[in-house]
Parts: sequence; structure tokens; C-alpha cells
Amino acid sequence: MARHSKTTNIAKLARIIAVASQKGGVGKTATVTNMAVGLVSLGYKTAIIDMDAQGHIAFSFGIKKHNLRKTIYDVLLGEAKMRDIKQSAFGVDLYLSNNSLSSFSSSVLAPANNKQFPAPKYLLKNAVGQIKAQYDYILIDTSPSNDILTLNSLLASTDIIIPALPEGLSVDGIYDTLSLIKNIQQQGAKINILGILPTMVQDHTNLHNVMLQDLRKRFAETPDIKVFDTVIKRAIRHGLAQTQGEPDISKAPEYLSFVKEVLSIA
Ligand SMILES: Nc1ncnc2c1ncn2[C@@H]1O[C@H](COP(=O)(O)OP(=O)(O)OP(=O)(O)O)[C@@H](O)[C@H]1O
Ligand SMILES: [Mg+2]
Repeated sequence: MARHSKTTNIAKLARIIAVASQKGGVGKTATVTNMAVGLVSLGYKTAIIDMDAQGHIAFSFGIKKHNLRKTIYDVLLGEAKMRDIKQSAFGVDLYLSNNSLSSFSSSVLAPANNKQFPAPKYLLKNAVGQIKAQYDYILIDTSPSNDILTLNSLLASTDIIIPALPEGLSVDGIYDTLSLIKNIQQQGAKINILGILPTMVQDHTNLHNVMLQDLRKRFAETPDIKVFDTVIKRAIRHGLAQTQGEPDISKAPEYLSFVKEVLSIA
């Protein structure tokens, strides 16, 4: 039974899930995009916040990021409200970004702005507070870095999913991300690691089969960190969702299985 029933009258408390990895190109944006349309297909009220200046969520949903008048950047700086930037596409509410977000760090960390932004790592958490009563799930797409933007994303989240390819460098990226999360947990933040999602798996290759087995074995010894049973195969259909800007869960059935696996534990 899912934690948040769409039929409940009890005040909702959104689950806020960041999809994070410091390794680039591991399927963070594909996971957020497909999870969102998967959750919507199951009747959950779902939003995405794009915390990556690459603005790939806009692209994934067929929206031109350069035409956005205001973005999450303006909200974080206190110059807009979340409701001012909300867009909707394919049943998902979108709080988008574009390249303007790359100025975030220099804006909020500038010594001259100390008074205006006394707690720069909690700006997204405050922004999420404006909308979290409206949703069952809020998914946050993050950038492949451990900067102040990612820190904001993690501190605003209740849960984290870490996508990784079953390949050496990508697996190494898992440990970097886990140590960042551990650091934040040690400072008192309550963040639950939902698990590691194997992505772009080529199960006809020895390398991926061996590395996937190895990944499962490694984390079997750390029972608080799960490697999801569902794996996402490398398939052109997943890439196409992004390049065509038309996410469609019926074309990404592994992601629907993944959403169901998440719902069974979250
Ligand atoms: N399962 C898949 N099979 C094939 N291609 C995929 C799959 N998932 C994602 N892709 C493609 O691989 C590329 C990288 O994926 P994606 O953008 O989701 O990664 P990312 O982790 O968000 O990258 P970044 O770190 O740059 O934000 C994209 O071109 C995407 O369309
Ligand atoms: Mg991305």
C-alpha cells in the first residue's frame, strides 16, 4: 500500500526525493523525468524541481529553457514565489531552471550578501515549504557536483536515490555521493537513502553482469543501503524521452516497475 493515498483526506506531507550523483551522465534526469510521469500515471500528484543549471528537465518536457522568464533561481533569491514559476506538462508540475542558476553560488555566498542570505544552504528547503502541502511526491533533479546547489537539494529532501552505471567510475561516484550524504546526516539532517538504482545496464555484456553482481554483494553488507531490484536497461527509448521532449511511461516500463518498487518501500 502506498504511503500517500490519493484518496486520503489527511493533510498531505510530500515525500521529497532528490535524485543525486556527483558523477555526470548516469541517468539522473532520465530517472526524475520517467519517475514523475510514472507516479502521475498511478494517480499521484507530482512535481519536479530542477536544481541543475543545465536545465535538462525543461528539455525533457519539451519546454524551451531560454524562454523561461523566471526560474527556481529567482525563487531561491527571494525574487519570485514558487507559484510564479510553475508550469505543467504531461500531468507533472514543473519548477524549472536554466543557465541563470549557475550564478546561484556567487550570489548567495558573496560576503557582501551575508545579511541577505544568512543560511544559504536552506534556501531550497524554504522554497519547498511553499508547495509541499500540494503534492504526494516532489522530485529534485540535481547537478553532477557537490556544490551549494546540491547541498540545497539534499537538505530540502526527505529521501535520496542514487543512479549508477555498473561500471568502475560510476560505482566510485556512489561512494562520493554517500560520503556527502553522511556528512550532512552527521550535521543532524534527516535524509533517508532510498537506494542505488542501476542504470543504462547492458545485461548482454560480461562487464555489466559482473559489476552488477559485485555492486549487490558490496551493499548486501550495508543493510541500510539498498540496491534496487529493478534495473534500467540501456535502451534508445529512454534517451528519446529526453531528446523528443515527450516523456511517456508506457515506453519506459522498467521505470514504472521502479516507481512501484519505490512505492513499496517509501
Ligand atoms: N537507460 C538509458 N538508456 C539509454 N540512454 C539513456 C538512458 N538513460 C539516459 N539516457 C541518455 O543518456 C544521457 C545522460 O542521461 P541523463 O541526462 O539522464 O544523465 P544525468 O545524470 O542527468 O546527466 P548530468 O549529470 O549531465 O545531469 C542522456 O542523453 C539521456 O538521454
Ligand atoms: Mg541531468
